[in-house]
This record gives sequence, structure tokens and C-alpha cells, in this order.
Amino acid sequence: MKQVYLDTFGCQMNVADTDRMELLLFHSGYFRTHEPENADLIIVNTCSIREKAENKIYSLFGHFRPLKAKNPGLVLGMAGCLAQQEGENILKKAPFIDFIMGPDCVEQISDVVQHAQTSRKPRVWTEFDRAKEYSIPDLAHPLDRPADPSSFINIIKGCDKFCSFCVVPFTRGREKSREAAEIVAEAEQLVRRGAKEIILLGQNVNAYGKRGLIEPTEFHELLYRVAEVPGLQRLRFTTSHPKDFTPELVQAYQDLDVLVNHLHLPVQSGNDRILEEMRRGHTVAEYRALIDLVRNKVPDMSFSTDVIIGYPSETEREFEDTLDLMEWVGYSSSFMFQYSPRPNTPAAEIPDTVSELEKRERLQRTIELQNRLTLEQGQRFIGTEVEALVEGPASRGKGLMRGRSPHYWSVFFPDPLKQVQPGERVSVLVEDVRGHSLSGVANLPAVVG
Ligand code: SAH
Ligand code: SF4
Ligand code: F3S
Repeated sequence: MKQVYLDTFGCQMNVADTDRMELLLFHSGYFRTHEPENADLIIVNTCSIREKAENKIYSLFGHFRPLKAKNPGLVLGMAGCLAQQEGENILKKAPFIDFIMGPDCVEQISDVVQHAQTSRKPRVWTEFDRAKEYSIPDLAHPLDRPADPSSFINIIKGCDKFCSFCVVPFTRGREKSREAAEIVAEAEQLVRRGAKEIILLGQNVNAYGKRGLIEPTEFHELLYRVAEVPGLQRLRFTTSHPKDFTPELVQAYQDLDVLVNHLHLPVQSGNDRILEEMRRGHTVAEYRALIDLVRNKVPDMSFSTDVIIGYPSETEREFEDTLDLMEWVGYSSSFMFQYSPRPNTPAAEIPDTVSELEKRERLQRTIELQNRLTLEQGQRFIGTEVEALVEGPASRGKGLMRGRSPHYWSVFFPDPLKQVQPGERVSVLVEDVRGHSLSGVANLPAVVG
């Protein structure tokens, strides 16, 4: 068999796409290797959400280039959002790349590779899949290895929101939901293969089912269906949009035990003018009202968010509104990004009045605030027992195991006698909090003698 080396940048959508390519390529005779030097095929699945990611990717291809001199049969491919965004332009910077393929062509990966091998002339594959329904044909033989204890399922692709700063609607195309029956079947298959937790995935999961489904299903209805999969212990979703958050979805948290009490609800800014500029479609008051509603119904809920710092024309006072909102919500964690202008987006046209220095200084203050909020949230767990779904050994420290709590904190505990396996749930008495991690002692069966 031949060997493929796959590298992934960007969000969980890209991770899922890479997994899918691995599976499809396996059925075309490729084993995955973790050594690019051994590979017959190298694919880098790229991200273009911020500029930093792009630069990293070009330098990575620079590293791979000499491998072609050693192995003239080597095929080099760029997949993902940067590939979709830049298309032909990439060949000007890196003419040694054999194919450029957007996220919507993942299902065609075997044809793309075959074409690259036979023609030896670079080709760009960036057509959007215009089929109405989003159907992933299930392969009869999934990869012969257990599923991750916590596994992702893509339920919707693309995004129709067109926030002013964001490339996703251009790189991933229009929203397309996947049939609920297919999603449930995939969840059943993953649980049979050992998954305990399912994370439903999309750029905008609660826009699920708005149109185009053969069997119309709303997002909360999908949750009720997946929750019934026998053996499923935990259910999550990411990312949901405040604008599409319905009361029925709040109700689902009350009704479904497996739906854990953590909600990632990106707000981007705590200021109304900036939110409007961003085209987020809601105000700060509406966002606060939603958080209040969720908290009233589900008091144990923890929240995380994404914020953008230094959006063009953001004033100091407007920036401080973001800090105020973060403090008010008390997020357990945040992804905090310095604004980065992106090609084709309306925000890139607005004069950028916030200097690089100011952006960095604001970002630093935001990070400091979040560190304090994370610590405050984490300290509430000290002296209590949290349930950890075990993922595997920790990379730091021998004999230390790593898991996740329902609120999505990393949980570390010693297991010197190796009593615990990935996928098991153990109760951990929390003694310490560091960053977004809890550590403590697991309640393991006592070993006599
Ligand atoms: N669909 C999700 C987010 C997807 S992108 C949502 O709407 O919430 C992940 C995060 O990257 C965004 O939430 C935003 O905070 C950040 N991001 C996107 N474009 C950006 C840009 N041009 N500059 C800086 N951060 C950006
Ligand atoms: Fe981008 Fe907005 Fe869509 Fe999120 S909702 S992917 S930020 S356009
Ligand atoms: Fe990046 Fe594309 Fe995801 S731009 S964040 S890989 S949708």
C-alpha cells in the first residue's frame, strides 16, 4: 500500500474533513503515515481565518518541496479554506504543488489524487458541490480502529451569515444541512465503535434544518433524536450562533440528561455599534437576555465565547464594553483574536484606525481578564467531585491521565496502577486549578496488598 501524510490547520471542520480524506484514501490504497519523508502523497488541509495561519502554511510547503527532488513520484496537495480562497494564485507562489482543492471537494479526493498522478500538471478543484442535500455516503468498512471517546459529527456545512470580517461563507459556501437519519446512523456507528461523547459540528449548528432537508428537522429535534442513541453518555454541539438560539433549544438542556451544561456562544464584541458593523444580527441586550434565560432554566450552565479585538474603528470605550460583557457573563474560557483583515470581506474595506500596538495591548488586557475569570470559575470546583470522561494518558507527567469534565475543563489525575482506560468515566475530587485545567484524585477501586 502507498502512504499518505496529512496535516491539518484550522477548526474542527477541517479535522473532520481530514479524517474523511483519510478514510476515502484508505479505500483507494493509502495508509496514513506520520513521517512526511515516507509519503507518496502529502496533503495539507489549510485554514485562512486569520493571516497568521496562511504564512505558516506557505512555509510548511517550503519544507516539503525538497522531498520531491528525492521522490519524483511524490504528489503534493493543498486542501481546505486557503486553497478555496486563493485557487490559482497559489501556483504563482508555489508552482510545485500538484493540486489545490477546496473543502467542498473532499468527497472527490480519490479522483483528485488519481488525476494528479496521471497528468502531472497542477489542477485547481474549487467548484462548490451544488447538490441540494448534504449526503456523506457511508463506507461499508470504516477504519479498523476504535472511535475516539469524544467524536465529532458534521451536521451542517457552509455558512450564510456573512459576518463582515469572516471568510467562511466564501471558503465553505452556502449552508447545507445533512439528513437527520444519516446523522443518527453515524452517531450509532460511532457509539458502537467506542465513542461515549458526540459533538455535533458546524460553523453555525443552530441554523441546522432551515431548508433543503428531505425530512424537515429543526436543530433541537435533532438533539432529541441523537440523545436516544443507546450507549451515548454525553452530547455537545459547536458552534451555535446567538441569533439562531431558540427557546426550544434551551428547553432541550432541561430535558436531555446527556446534553452537558457547557455552551460555546461566540459574541465577538460587547458593543452595539461594533456588533452592527460586524453584521452579527443581535444587540448586547439580546445576548444578555439569552444568557439570563439559559441561566434561569439551567443554573449549572457554563459559557465560553470568541471575541475579536481591534475591529476597524473600535474605540477604547467600545473595546471596554467587550471586557464588561465578559466580566458580566463570567466565561470559563474564551478564544480571543486580534482582528485580521481578510480578502473579499467588507470589513477589510474599512479604514483600520486601531494601531497594531493598540490591538496588541487590548488583546493582552483581554487575556488577563479571561485568565482571572477562568481561575474564578475553576476555583468553584475545588473540593467537589467532577466526572471526567477519560481521553488517555497526559502528555506531561508519567502515570497522569487526562479527561474532560461535562463543563469542558481538562481534568488530570494520577493512575499509577493503570486501572483506567480511555472512554471510562471516573469521578475526580478536584484539588487544584491551573489555566483551564483541573487536577485531583480519582475515585478508583482500592487495590489491596
Ligand atoms: N461560526 C462561528 C465562528 C467561526 S470562526 C461564529 O460565528 O461564532 C472562529 C472565530 O474566529 C470567530 O468566532 C471569530 O472570533 C474569529 N475570526 C473570524 N474571522 C476573523 C478575523 N478576520 N479576524 C480575527 N478573528 C476572526
Ligand atoms: Fe463566519 Fe459569521 Fe458564519 Fe461564524 S456566523 S462562520 S463568524 S460568517
Ligand atoms: Fe479555518 Fe476554514 Fe475552519 S477558514 S476556521 S478551516 S472553516
